[in-house]
Amino acid sequence: MKRIIITASFVAVAALYAAPSAMSAEETLGNVDRGRVIYQFGKGDDVPACQGCHAPDGLGDDNVGTPRLAYQIDTYVLKQLADFAAGSRVDDTMYQMNDISKALTEQDMKDVASYVHTLKTPYIGSNLDQLRRDGAEVGDPEKGMMIVEYGAADHGVPACQSCHGFNGRSAGRMYPAVGGQNYVYLQHELTSFRNGAEAYGSSTLTADQMASKEDNQRVNDFMGQMRAVAKNLTDEDIKNVAAFLTLAKPTTPGNPRSPSRQ
Ligand code: HEC
Ligand code: HEC
Repeated sequence: MKRIIITASFVAVAALYAAPSAMSAEETLGNVDRGRVIYQFGKGDDVPACQGCHAPDGLGDDNVGTPRLAYQIDTYVLKQLADFAAGSRVDDTMYQMNDISKALTEQDMKDVASYVHTLKTPYIGSNLDQLRRDGAEVGDPEKGMMIVEYGAADHGVPACQSCHGFNGRSAGRMYPAVGGQNYVYLQHELTSFRNGAEAYGSSTLTADQMASKEDNQRVNDFMGQMRAVAKNLTDEDIKNVAAFLTLAKPTTPGNPRSPSRQ
C-alpha cells in the first residue's frame, strides 16, 4: 500500500515538472535526423550548412555575431525561422538568415529546430576577457545579475527571470533561453528591441509599417513583450545583463534539472 502511494505522488511530481512543455520527452516537432543533415550539409543551392556560421556544436561565434542555437527551445527556433522567412525579423548582422529561411520548407524548419534542441553542448558562454582584449566594452556581471533577478524598479525594468526563467534558462515555448547566449549577440538583440520600441512602442506593425521599418528594429516579439522591457534599458544595463547572462548556467548545484524537459 505504502509503495503505491509513493509511486502515485512521484508520478504527480513528475507531471508537474513536465507541465511547462507541451510535448512528452519522446515527441519532437520534426525529424531530428533530417534536421541534422540540413544543419551539417545545408540543402540544395540556397541553404548553406548552418554549422558554417553557428558552429558544429551550435555554440555560435562572437567574431561574426551569431547566436548559440544548442539546446534552444525548438518552438522558439521554429518561430524565428518563420519570422525571418516572412521578413518580420531582419538579420542585419550578416544579412543571410532571411534568404536562408525563405529557402526552407516548414518541415525543414521543424526538423532543424528539433535537431538544434538535441545539442547538449555545455553552457560555455562568451570569453569576456578576450572580448575586452579585442576592445569591446564589457559590462559588469554582478550588476547584470541584479537586473535579471530583481529588475531595475527605479527605471521601469522588470526582472528578466520572470519570463526567461532562472539564470535565463528559458521558461519553455515562446520564451527563449538567454543564459549561456553569446555576449555580442545578446547586446545586439537587446539594442534592436529597444530600437523597435522607440519607433513603434509595443504595437503589432501594419503591413505598411513592416515594409518601411529599419533593419535594426526588432519587432517580432509577440504582443511587444520584449520591446516593453527593452525600451527602459540603458546602454549600461544592456552590457551588464549581457555580461551576466552569457556566463549564467541553467542549473544550480542544488538543482540538477536543466531547462524544462529533462
Ligand atoms: C552566413 C551565416 C549563417 C548561416 C549559414 C546560418 N545562419 Fe542563422 N544566423 C546568422 C546570424 C548572423 C544570426 C543573427 C541575426 C541577427 O539577429 O541579426 C542568425 C540567427 C539565427 C537564428 C535566431 C536565433 C535566436 O536566438 O533568435 C536562428 C534560429 C538561426 N539563425 C538558424 C539557422 C539555421 C537553422 C541555419 C541553417 C539552415 C542557419 N541559421 C544558417 C548567421 C547564419
Ligand atoms: C514579459 C516577458 C519578458 C520579460 C520580463 C523579458 N523578456 Fe526577453 N523575451 C520575451 C519574449 C516573449 C521573447 C521572444 C520574442 C520573439 O518571439 O522573438 C524574448 C526575447 C529575448 C531576447 C532575444 C533572444 C534571442 O535568442 O534572440 C533577449 C536577448 C531577451 N529576451 C533578454 C531579456 C532580458 C535581458 C530581460 C530583462 C531585462 C528580458 N528579456 C525580460 C519576453 C520577456
